[in-house]
Amino acid sequence: MNDAEIIEKTIAYVRQELENAEGGHDWFHIQRVFRNTLLIAKEENVDVLTVSLAALLHDIADAKFHGGNEKVGPQKARGFLKTLGVPRGVRNHVITIIRNVSYKNSLENRQEKFDSPELQVVQDADRLDALGAVGIARAFSYGGYAGRKLYDPEIPPKPKMSKAEYKKNTGPTINHFYEKLLLLRDMMHTDTGRKLAEHRHQFMLEYLEEFFREWKGSV
Ligand code: ADP
Ligand code: NI
Repeated sequence: MNDAEIIEKTIAYVRQELENAEGGHDWFHIQRVFRNTLLIAKEENVDVLTVSLAALLHDIADAKFHGGNEKVGPQKARGFLKTLGVPRGVRNHVITIIRNVSYKNSLENRQEKFDSPELQVVQDADRLDALGAVGIARAFSYGGYAGRKLYDPEIPPKPKMSKAEYKKNTGPTINHFYEKLLLLRDMMHTDTGRKLAEHRHQFMLEYLEEFFREWKGSV
C-alpha cells in the first residue's frame, strides 16, 4: 500500500469510529487538525506520513470518554496500523505521539518526556483547534456534554492544576479558558502555529470581554 492509500484507509476508519462522538471530538475535529497539520508541516522538516497518521488517530479513543483510561487510544491505533502494514518505525513514532500529544500530559512532571518535530507539529495543530471561534464552540459543546455550568462567579478558575486535578475538575466552562485555552498561545512550537494562535487568542479575549459585559447586564 502506498502512503496515499494508507491515509485514505485511515480516514475511512476514523470517520466510522467517531460516528457518534461528542461534537468537539468528532471526525470534523480530526479533519481540522489534519488540515492544520499539513499546513504547519509544509514549513517544517518532518515526515509527512507520520504526522498525518498521528493527526488522524490522536483522538481515536480519548481518555475523557473512556473512564479516564489513557491506554485504549494508543492500543486501538496500534492494532489498526498493524492491519495496514505501516512500517514498525513509523508505527511506533505515531503511537508515541498519540500518547504525548494531550494537553493534560504537559501538566505532569514525567521523568521521560518525549519530544520530536513531528509531535510538535501535531500538538500545535490540535491546540489550534482548542482556540478561536471553533475552540469556544468546542468548549461549550464539551461543557454541555459533561453537564457543566456556563459560568459561576463564585467558583474561581484554578490556573495551576496537576494532571490528576485537571482530569477530575468539574468547574464551569468559562473557567476552562483561564485553566487551559488562554495558556496555549505561549506553548506553541512552530512559527505557523504561533501566528494562527495569536489571532485566535485575541478573538477569545474579545469574546470574554463581551461575555462579562453581557453577564453584568450592560451593552
Ligand atoms: P487534551 O485532550 O488535549 O488533554 P482537553 O482534555 O483539555 O485536552 O480537551 C480537549 C478539548 O475539550 C478542549 O480544548 C475543550 O474544547 C474541551 N474541554 C476539555 N475539558 C473541558 C472543560 N473542563 N470545559 C470545557 N471544555 C473542555
Ligand atoms: Ni484533539
